Amino acid sequence: MSKNLVQFIIEEQRQLPGATGDFTGLLSDIITACKQIAHSVNKGALIGVLGSAGSENIQGETQKKLDVITNDIFIEANQWGGHLTAMASEEMDDIYPIPAQYPKGKYLLTFDPLDGSSNIDVNISVGTIFSILRCPEEVTNPTAEDFLQPGTKQVCAGYALYGPSTMLVLTTGHGVNGFTLNNDIGEFMLTHPNMCIPADTQEFAINMSNQRFWEAPVQRYVEECVKGKTPGGREKNFNMRWVASMVAEVHRILTRGGIFMYPFDNKEVGKAGKLRLLYEANPMSFIVEQAGGVCSTGRERIMELKPTGLHQRVPVILGSKNEVERVVGYHKGA
Ligand code: AHG
Ligand code: MN
Ligand code: MN
Repeated sequence: MSKNLVQFIIEEQRQLPGATGDFTGLLSDIITACKQIAHSVNKGALIGVLGSAGSENIQGETQKKLDVITNDIFIEANQWGGHLTAMASEEMDDIYPIPAQYPKGKYLLTFDPLDGSSNIDVNISVGTIFSILRCPEEVTNPTAEDFLQPGTKQVCAGYALYGPSTMLVLTTGHGVNGFTLNNDIGEFMLTHPNMCIPADTQEFAINMSNQRFWEAPVQRYVEECVKGKTPGGREKNFNMRWVASMVAEVHRILTRGGIFMYPFDNKEVGKAGKLRLLYEANPMSFIVEQAGGVCSTGRERIMELKPTGLHQRVPVILGSKNEVERVVGYHKGA
């Protein structure tokens, strides 16, 4: 029988001198949260969780009922264990310090509890994204400032994908491994060891309806992909996909390669792209880079950005190495 996720993490922990088991404990709480979310997402209309919550988050997006429910699940599962000092989420304006009745720990957790939530009512794949950072030493009353660490400082990043099967994909900086939830026994089993992104691809993902707002380098790249093997195009033809759930797109890229772009656009003044750095772009970058892919804003490596705000947005171009490097090259030439 293949090993389950907790066994996998404990075996990894044994190879780290001085490891206390704290991280394993935290991950086990995150796994519990993801299983609970999988259950709610899967039951859907049967338990009345579809539709709008009638509220807005700090980014002015209408919250779905499940945005709020999954945020609560993540907090409940992770606040009591003694591994965290604070959490931050897409669905909370400010950070969530661990309440006084629980012990505090040495980690910070950021998460997008339900990614792709516009897909929930139409029964298309959604996911959860999370990132674990170390809490700066001696901080007992954390502030948002403590979360503003570059992605290179992440201890662990992962996502759960609630698709035809539920999967959890994870990195601690030693490659990427994928686990599939066996509902019969309630365990995530190692099914996708050492996931690697092929360097070349013939598949791109971008929301084409934003085309008129893109900058010249992305215009050029996509135009060439669309032309394919015709004059002014490329040496190969391309296929396009857009699920509108970043987790599903990244999972496809980890499985068979591809390039995903939510680039800089001038659709709304002051918004540099759509995706958020701390709980979408950074964790996905850590995973993609660990699988041999590349992640850039077009101008800088995403994981080296110094964050300036909890809900800061960044342009994202990620996936198969040779294609992302081509787009980055077009930015340099522009
Ligand atoms: P969220 O549901 O957490 O707000 O994230 C949705 C994100 C991302 O998952 C997806 O790639 C993108 O928004 C889709 O955006 P469009 O609706 O503009 O295509
Ligand atoms: Mn999201
Ligand atoms: Mn979300």
